[in-house]
Amino acid sequence: MSTMPSDRSPDSTLAFLREGYRFVSARCDRLGSDVVQTRLLLEPTICLRGRDAAELFYDEERFVRRGAAPKRGQRTLTGVGGVQGLDGPAHRARKAMFMSLMTPAAVRRLGQLFDDEWRARIPTWAEDGPVVLYDEVGRILTRAVWAWAGVPLAEADVRRRTAEMHAMIEGPAVLGPKHWRGLLARRRAERWAGELVDRVRAGTLPAPEDSALRVIAEHRDERGAPLPRRIAAVGLLNVLRPTVAVDRYVVFAALALHDHPHWRDRVRGDDAATEQFVQEVRRYYPFFPFAAARVRRSFEWRGYAFPQGRRVLLDLYGTNHHPALWPEPERFRPERFAAWRDDPFSFIPQGGGDHDTGHRCAGEWITIELMKRAVGALTGAMSYRVPPQDLALDLGRMPALPPSGMIVDGVRPVT
Ligand code: HEM
Repeated sequence: MSTMPSDRSPDSTLAFLREGYRFVSARCDRLGSDVVQTRLLLEPTICLRGRDAAELFYDEERFVRRGAAPKRGQRTLTGVGGVQGLDGPAHRARKAMFMSLMTPAAVRRLGQLFDDEWRARIPTWAEDGPVVLYDEVGRILTRAVWAWAGVPLAEADVRRRTAEMHAMIEGPAVLGPKHWRGLLARRRAERWAGELVDRVRAGTLPAPEDSALRVIAEHRDERGAPLPRRIAAVGLLNVLRPTVAVDRYVVFAALALHDHPHWRDRVRGDDAATEQFVQEVRRYYPFFPFAAARVRRSFEWRGYAFPQGRRVLLDLYGTNHHPALWPEPERFRPERFAAWRDDPFSFIPQGGGDHDTGHRCAGEWITIELMKRAVGALTGAMSYRVPPQDLALDLGRMPALPPSGMIVDGVRPVT
């Protein structure tokens, strides 16, 4: 057995918060290994990156999710008791609930709602002057996904709900007031989502048959029991929150169109080119930094010991930028996806492996659909200018976003 390469620091949590998306890769590069040991939150932690490591990480015989995610992430981002922390039959049953919402027709319906909302906003943007795309797209996504999920939404609540979703997304990797805002937003959101579940169950709130609200309220677990009210609320928020989070990817797509303007003409009206562009945005830009699991039973891999219970992080960003998998990984080149042979372990912005049986993101098709619609609107439905502003991405900030939120000006509808 070999000794696992290790960064000898007594605890690297602060370095992790400082270095962000580069933390794992910096150590892998320095130590010449895609398997490295560190200490995070005072706990020994194995960090993995690369295709083979991802395949290992998604082997359910070797890893469990129970107790893997740091508490501060659960209390803000995912919610305690969500699908993310389940294993075995309980996970399969809960995951099937989410996947049943992801039929091609349902994904298209959400895309259409988003498109309609976006186009309806263009005249207002044209009148109002500069707009912050991140804020606007967040609210458009809120309107679209609330309608899609069968959740009532008063116009007066759009800003508040969008802000709650943003606060939960930003909560895990920050300290102080931003983290507390995330905690508060989650507490409030679980309360109103739980009340909606109660009303659907009591028959006082009609929700369309295939809507997320109805499906989650009526879901039965692997033993045939309905979900406890709070867990159903967490489930509903697991649809609403990440759909609003697609606003970050939309900002990245707008940024990529700004930095690589020749792609504007290539994607316009061309579905295949739009798809390549969107995939490269998901590969290139930093969003979800890593996935966490624990070793189910001790085993050995490539000569290294993985002791039972050890926390393991899979570096999603680092794998998408691994030079052995992606030639010139720091160049934005959508054409690399023209010849891409689908591999569930080397392109993992939303996790890897299998959607139904593993923990890979349930919303991947929704994300791609919404991004394609956004690129269509940015290149086909409106013209705009990008005024001087701070667009620099700080890889030490998780989740990353250009400081300006991407301001656009001089918006005109294209007819
Ligand atoms: C905004 C873009 C998104 C990103 C970057 C993203 C990323 C991720 C990642 C990294 C995971 C964890 C994978 C793992 O643990 O192995 C995940 C899980 C999940 N995502 Fe997403 N996601 C996005 C959008 C969505 C959307 C739109 C939905 C639903 C409508 C969604 C629902 C879920 C659910 C339910 C899980 C838990 C899956 C499980 O544990 O089995 N996500 N996502």
